[in-house]
Amino acid sequence: MKVLIIGSGGREHALGWKLDQSTKVHELYFAPGNAGTSFLGTNVAINVTEIDQLVEFAKSEEIGLTIVGPEDPLCDGIVEAFEKEGLRIFGPNTECSKFESSKDFTKNFLKRHNIPTAAYNTYTDYDSALAGLDEVSYPIVIKADGLALGKGVVIAENYEHATATLDVMMNQAQFGDAGSTVVIEEFLDGPELSLLCIVSHNRVIPLDFARDYKRALDGDKGLNTGGVGCYSPVPVENHVQKEIKAINEMIEKGLIEDGYDFTGILFIGYIVQNDVPYVLEFNVRFGDPETEVLMPRLESDLFDILNKAIDDTLVDEDLIWSNEQAVGVILTSKGYPEAFEKGHTIKLPAQKPTGTLLFHNGTAFDDDSVVNAAGRVLTAVGLGKTKEDARLLAYNLVGRIESDNLTYRTDIAK
Ligand code: AMP
Ligand code: GLY
Repeated sequence: MKVLIIGSGGREHALGWKLDQSTKVHELYFAPGNAGTSFLGTNVAINVTEIDQLVEFAKSEEIGLTIVGPEDPLCDGIVEAFEKEGLRIFGPNTECSKFESSKDFTKNFLKRHNIPTAAYNTYTDYDSALAGLDEVSYPIVIKADGLALGKGVVIAENYEHATATLDVMMNQAQFGDAGSTVVIEEFLDGPELSLLCIVSHNRVIPLDFARDYKRALDGDKGLNTGGVGCYSPVPVENHVQKEIKAINEMIEKGLIEDGYDFTGILFIGYIVQNDVPYVLEFNVRFGDPETEVLMPRLESDLFDILNKAIDDTLVDEDLIWSNEQAVGVILTSKGYPEAFEKGHTIKLPAQKPTGTLLFHNGTAFDDDSVVNAAGRVLTAVGLGKTKEDARLLAYNLVGRIESDNLTYRTDIAK
């Protein structure tokens, strides 16, 4: 069967790498893909939000399954557009994609179903948001309601910081419409966990835990990024696991009660404060870099899993994990998450050490050279018996990549 993967990041490269191992997948296409994905399949020059062209392509190439990487096309209705044409696609519909495109929508869902989350208020105008600050203690978390490329969350340390943030989001419209509504919520403190779940017609089937490193610099310093390192599995105490399982069941029950038909990925961001898990956020797509460390550990056939999810036949036992530890280190363009230069040549290693994988997050070809084309550029993954083995392998691979414009954190999984 022919499979189309929409997106151009490390997540899509890792999904393609995993699908390529299925005996049922005969040809892979990426729209638009990157330099790395071109070694696995065919890159098609259609952007992720050009839904009509993607539908036309899938029809003319008789694509048997399409998998959507990023949230934008999901929120724009790609699933409905494909299904209308009888094309098979894995991802949530527009209604369920609101769990990612509106923080207020998700917070309301969590509140309605008594699911533990940070206490919050939603404001649609600056004056009432300002008045809302009278009731809070600091730090406080201010979130643009809509999609803001991962930049719409600010932890305000004091009143001045909070008012300045509200001004930038609501008056100066830094994120356009996405910031015209804000959620102000209680600050929670503790380790975070990424739990990606395959949802099959509202049934929530979790993958293994992963831990993402969001800050740009060592020691969790610097600006927030999309994620610059990751590892899986993550040891989680039994009683916390039990509570997370109970919350997952509450989410499932909530989806059913509210009458959704959710099929796709529900990525639950958990934070564990004083040993108690709270839901921080939902995304409706595979995480990046979570996918780069989860796919190498998945032993079962991803193509079967996604098809079973669509057909409502997926069960927990379909997901088989290796005991291996995976550590992923992201090489980013110097300057990321702020301004950076593109087009610098990258010399990739001719040979990779055994137990390593290299996924491309943001690369392109300039003639025959591979160059950086985005903020996050490559993910070096190490696989080992212990996290330390995996970490050393990942950094060994990092050391073999040559470029004058790449940087990385040195403390991932340390
Ligand atoms: P979100 O997009 O809602 O996941 O927020 C992005 C990041 O901001 C999270 O991964 C956390 O690191 C941080 N964050 C969000 N909400 C809170 C909160 N209530 N308390 C502490 N940190 C938070
Ligand atoms: N790594 C976090 C995300 O994919 O949103």
